[in-house]
Amino acid sequence: MNERAEIPTNEIENQKKVMQQILESSQARPVQPLAYVDTYGCQQNESDSEKLRGMLAEMGYGFTGDEFQADIVIINTCAIRENAENRVFGNVGALVHTKKAKPTQTIVFCGCMAAVPETVEKVRQSYKHVDLMFSPNVLWRFPELLHRTLTAKGRIFETDANEGAIAEGIPAHRDGTVKAWLPIMYGCDNHCSYCIVPYVRGQERSREPEAILKEAKQLVKDGFKDITLLGQNVNSYGMGLPCKTDFATLIRKINDIDGAFLIRFMTSHPKDASTELFKAMAESEKAARHIHLPFQAGGDRILSLMNRGYTHEEYMEKIAEARQQMPDITITSDVIVGFPGETESEFEDTLRLVEKAQFDAMFTFIYSKRPGTPAAELEDTTTREEKQIRFDRLLELQNAISEKKHTKYIGKSISVLVDGESHDERYPLKARTNGGRLVHLCGAGELVGHFVQAKITHCNSWSLFGECGGEHI
Ligand code: SAH
Ligand code: SF4
Ligand code: F3S
Repeated sequence: MNERAEIPTNEIENQKKVMQQILESSQARPVQPLAYVDTYGCQQNESDSEKLRGMLAEMGYGFTGDEFQADIVIINTCAIRENAENRVFGNVGALVHTKKAKPTQTIVFCGCMAAVPETVEKVRQSYKHVDLMFSPNVLWRFPELLHRTLTAKGRIFETDANEGAIAEGIPAHRDGTVKAWLPIMYGCDNHCSYCIVPYVRGQERSREPEAILKEAKQLVKDGFKDITLLGQNVNSYGMGLPCKTDFATLIRKINDIDGAFLIRFMTSHPKDASTELFKAMAESEKAARHIHLPFQAGGDRILSLMNRGYTHEEYMEKIAEARQQMPDITITSDVIVGFPGETESEFEDTLRLVEKAQFDAMFTFIYSKRPGTPAAELEDTTTREEKQIRFDRLLELQNAISEKKHTKYIGKSISVLVDGESHDERYPLKARTNGGRLVHLCGAGELVGHFVQAKITHCNSWSLFGECGGEHI
């Protein structure tokens, strides 16, 4: 599967030729054309937007944060829940005004929503100011699609959701200088019954380890200190590759790269989180002591209806093993409340799991029906109000646990990576602990990009607050 998925070099070269053509016409303009890129959804989409910006930069575009100034507006969308989609529709609708003010403006609608047939139809019919729509799997053809849009009359739709490819050699224009996303695989084969991702992102496919290592080395050379390996299920990395490898091996290889940096990854699926993975993390000094391991539900009947492939007990065993290998590990998770047919007692199973697991942080979502997924066919008898009550109870429980966990940091001096500045005068720096907890820090701007010792002074349920001690790297 993987060999077929790789886009031949000559096709990438053709895209580069088109980039050159657009660059020449950008340079011939009296003022540099500007692009506005708006990103919704997960880190995979953030990473895709970095590629879009990389290609735009090579085509001579500058960037603006103001839609009205932009010659091209790109909305990179997320289809994971209905409220995410509604936000996108609201914002795309509002672009009618920017286009009215600047009729030459090109409006691009891409990302996961662009691979949902009903959404494509809706945009075709009701959002006529959208000039170009394309699905995530054809992102590598953006230069050609843009060229066609700029030169052809009429709108362009390239929204095939079934293709799935790996395109190497696309330039990325990364957002910061400290943290970098590094995709190691694309798509998903898990088909959790509630989830739209496998339909919009295509089949799971892994990048060759050599390509990943080359990119990781370059990132370290460029000074990035925090590298997050991305995939919908990183624990199944390597399946289908001609060379026999796995995620644990990849972590060890990246750990061998010289330099002071941290390796993070997202997301791990509990069914594939192996002893080998925990061992590789424990034995790799650069692997951050953090795992995001979504459990989704505490009741076994619901887990089975979700097609998650584990029971609540198996999940608890996994986190016990992770903690046994790495006693200082932070564990975070995702949970869905109000899955179709979830009873009050099944919801209480979820509460019990949260109480037992003692996560450092948790992301709670109310189930959102995704048309075309198996769960959309299930009867849903719980009212929106009941779901909201469950959501609030869960949040209250987790907030108390997170706060209790954070309180334990107070008075301690820990190593943190300063990854940005903030607008808060009292805490002008933002940092992360090795385990990924957010720290608001007092200190000077030049510390951005450095590991420093921070003394934690207080906390709330979301973050820690502290002062800089001595810098150590
Ligand atoms: N691949 C990752 C997660 C991708 S989506 C994984 O399997 O862990 C991120 C989170 O969104 C999921 O963990 C899940 O909790 C939530 N989610 C996905 N589909 C959803 C839906 N239809 N309704 C509500 N939440 C959903
Ligand atoms: Fe969706 Fe499940 Fe794949 Fe995650 S593992 S992207 S929840 S289908
Ligand atoms: Fe959303 Fe697509 Fe990510 S649906 S969560 S942007 S893979």
